[in-house]
Amino acid sequence: MIALMPEKQDDWWEVEALYDLCFAPGREALSSYRLRDGIPPVPGLSLVARDSDGILTGAIRFWPVRVAGLPALLLGPVAVHPTHQGEGLGGVLIRDGLAAAVAGGWDRVLLVGDAPYYQRFGFSRLERVRMPPPTNPDRVLGQALSPGAWDGVEGDVTRWSGDAH
Ligand SMILES: CC(C)(COP(=O)(O)OP(=O)(O)OC[C@H]1O[C@@H](n2cnc3c(N)ncnc32)[C@H](O)[C@@H]1OP(=O)(O)O)[C@@H](O)C(=O)NCCC(=O)NCCS
Repeated sequence: MIALMPEKQDDWWEVEALYDLCFAPGREALSSYRLRDGIPPVPGLSLVARDSDGILTGAIRFWPVRVAGLPALLLGPVAVHPTHQGEGLGGVLIRDGLAAAVAGGWDRVLLVGDAPYYQRFGFSRLERVRMPPPTNPDRVLGQALSPGAWDGVEGDVTRWSGDAH
């Protein structure tokens, strides 16, 4: 039995260890991390999954960013412990996280990832949105959380500034 709950401050380093286990070394050199440096994840959206013994089995985080000046969520990292991959947990984390994002009033979300995995959750290529280089443009994917929220949005993804969204 796996339970999902919001990530708490005390979970931080345990989640970092899970990400270190699940991603290739050097993950923090990715350009997406430059959008996260020194900026806290969005409170309440990041989730942890724990088994009945309390062992961390998965986690997802969301950061605020701006795209052409507009507020957007950057989904990720998301990871599931190798012993639990393929059981649907990644999907639950993503769907629950997106539902919380809608409830929180966010209009648009993007990520850098594999389209064959994320298209099942409604993500598709954002042709006119540029992540900081070097990022493969084919991996820049997005989803509108309110109708038409990505329509006509064209420009760079930049670090978050301000409070409102
Ligand atoms: C990607 C990840 C979060 C998915 O979590 P999960 O719980 O294993 O995924 P689910 O059980 O919800 O879905 C499994 C399905 O996704 C597919 N899948 C997983 N990763 C995939 C990928 N990169 N590309 C295409 N399909 C992928 C599996 O083949 C499986 O397909 P099936 O349903 O047809 O059998 C997990 O595998 C993981 O932590 N990977 C390492 C870290 C990582 O790459 N994170 C994503 C960064 S973009």
